[in-house]
Order: sequence, then structure tokens, then C-alpha cells
Amino acid sequence: MAAQQTITVDLGERSYPIVIGRGLLDGGFDLANFIDGTDCLVVSNETVAPLYRERILPNLSGTAVTTIELPDGESHKSLATMQKILDRLVESGANRDVTIVALGGGVVGDITGFAAACYMRGVAFIQIPTTLLAQVDSSVGGKTGVNHPQGKNLIGAFHQPRVVMIDTDTLNTLPDRELKAGLAEVIKYGAICDTGFFAWLEQNLQALLAREPAALQYAIQRSCELKAEVVAGDEREAGRRAILNFGHTFGHAIEHCQGYGEWLHGEAVAAGMVMAAELSGIDGDEQRRLSALLQKAGLPTAAPAIDACNWYEAMGLDKKVQKKQLRFVLLRTLGEAFVTSSFDADKLQSVIDASNR
Ligand code: NAD
Ligand code: GLY
Repeated sequence: MAAQQTITVDLGERSYPIVIGRGLLDGGFDLANFIDGTDCLVVSNETVAPLYRERILPNLSGTAVTTIELPDGESHKSLATMQKILDRLVESGANRDVTIVALGGGVVGDITGFAAACYMRGVAFIQIPTTLLAQVDSSVGGKTGVNHPQGKNLIGAFHQPRVVMIDTDTLNTLPDRELKAGLAEVIKYGAICDTGFFAWLEQNLQALLAREPAALQYAIQRSCELKAEVVAGDEREAGRRAILNFGHTFGHAIEHCQGYGEWLHGEAVAAGMVMAAELSGIDGDEQRRLSALLQKAGLPTAAPAIDACNWYEAMGLDKKVQKKQLRFVLLRTLGEAFVTSSFDADKLQSVIDASNR
């Protein structure tokens, strides 16, 4: 068994641990230490609850647990679904000292975190992410929210969890396509801030696709370390944190134009990273390394056909937009990202045109 590891997200009084290991479910890690009151609401969905909900109850020993099961899918990441969580809290008479536990992928984590941010102006919550994407990205950093019909994640709040508990064994039941989508975000960290990690991924991708525990544990640990460091330096995305959105301006536009759920988030981000690398104008060899790694992971490296007008409209919804100006995360070189509103507009047009070929 790989050793259990703890990474701290250093945010002063809101600091919290990310605990990563195998066998943390079934009481392998005591969450009661992170719960103030006597009540917990476990939020999961119809896919994950039957697999893991019973198995986290021993981790919550000593607390009175109520549960809610949400419908599965990005299309349910809405205010209407969040309302169901709030209704459940009110019905169960939950007080300010309730702790809400998110058990599932990024959709469950984002909605649950937002419900926790809103209920009684903010209650405690715990993340137990069960997809690779949620383990390396969405459960860490406190971005919570839901989609608006006009755009992704347009409604939300920053609200940090008390603890993130990652049992890597939960990945054993994850469909291959979802595992690959998570790898897109793992590759993102290498591309934006760690060339050594990027090179490690080039060497170890097969082991990750084969779900070798030691490889998964290292990839999750390194991704969380990199994310924790960025978040600790810029919790509310006043500056550097935006680099975590590499490929996302294009990726979110793909998701928006196709309709949420057609391509997975990680798939859209993969194609978006290739487009962003092209817009960056980095060395051709580096662009090829990025595309090759994504391809090896079974991810798309080009966008689906989307009308040019729709591209601009959808990109305009991006939360990085300032003074009506698009801003992109670009690469100076592989392993070094920056955010800018000065980009070559003709080049952007040609990147978009190329995606329609
Ligand atoms: P998801 O939550 O939809 O999960 C993917 C699928 O896998 C779902 O069908 C789910 O039920 C299923 N599943 C989850 N765990 C499983 C398991 N262990 N075994 C079997 N099936 C399992 O998708 P996701 O990729 O985890 O998350 C995507 C969401 O995360 C998007 O809404 C995106 O906007 C959001 N996100 C948020 C942040 C953030 O910082 N908050 C960062 C990145 C992405
Ligand atoms: N996934 C982007 C962020 O957390 O900032």
C-alpha cells in the first residue's frame, strides 16, 4: 500500500489538509476531527452513492448523518439542483454547525460546496472526491458553483473545505473515459508550471492509464502540491491563480457551444490546451510534445466544428474577461504560463479557423 500523504493548503485560518492514500474509506481516516457539530449531510449522486456512501459512514462516526442523492450529470449542475440540497438542510432542521460532505466528482463537489457557502451564510464542508479530475483539481481551492443556462460556472462563491480526503482506490470503478478526462488536468499542471512533472508524465502515462496505484498516487500528489501552492498565493484569483485555467477559455467555449455533457470537461480542456499552446506561439517541438502526450492519453487535440461567431460569443462569457477584453492563459515555454489580454487577434482567428477544418 502506498503511504498516506498530507499536503496543506496554506490559507491562514482557513488552511486545510488534503489527505491522499489507499484504504481511507471504511474508517481508514477519521473525519470526525474536522466536524464541529453533531450533524452531517452527505451529498452524493445516483451513481456514486450506491458505490461508496455506506463506506464513508465509519469515517463520520459519532455524527448523525442524513443524506441526499442528486441526479448524475453536468446538466444537473444548476440552481435547481442546489435548491434540493438547501431544502434537505431546512427539512432536517440543520443548524449553522452542520457539516456538508460532498461525495463524488466535480459536479457534486461544486454544487455541494456552493450550497455550503450559502446555507445560513456559510457552513463547513468536506470534500471526498471520487473522480481523477476532482481529486487533482476541483476539490482543492474552494471554487464552488453551478452553471447558468448561458454559461458555465457563472454562479458561485469561494468557499474552502475543511479537509479533502482522497482515497485513490475509488478510481478503480471510474470509467476509462472519465479517467482520461482527469488526465487532461494532470497534464495541465506539467504544462503550466512544472516541466519535470511533464517529463515524468511522458514516461509514466501508460502506468497511469493502467491505474497502477503508485503512479496514480504520485500524479495526484504532485498535482495537488502544485495547485495548493498556486491557491495559497492567490486564493481569489486576483492574478496568478488564473494560470490554472490554461486551455479553459477555449474548453469552456466548446462545452457551451456543444451543450454541456457532450464532451467531458477534461476533453474540452485538452483540445483547448492545444489551441492555447498554438496561440502562445511556443516552439513547435513543445507544441508537439503537448499534443503527443494528450493524444497518448486518448484525449482530443482539436476542437469540434463550431461556428466562428459562436466561438467569440462563448469566449466572451469567460470569467477572465476584464473591461470586455478577452484574456488568455498562454505559455512562455512549456512549464511557464502567464495571463494576458495582449494576444495576436489574427492568430486567434487562425487558431479558431484551424479548429473548423
Ligand atoms: P462528474 O462529477 O460529472 O463525474 C463524472 C462521472 O463519473 C459522473 O457520471 C459520476 O457520477 C461518475 N463517478 C464519479 N466518481 C466515480 C467513481 N469513483 N466510480 C464510478 N463513477 C464515478 O465530472 P468531473 O469530471 O469529476 O467534474 C467535472 C466538473 O468539475 C465540471 O462541472 C467542472 O466545471 C468542475 N470543475 C471544477 C473545478 C473547481 O475548481 N471547482 C475545477 C475543475 C473542474
Ligand atoms: N480549476 C481552476 C481553479 O481552481 O482555479
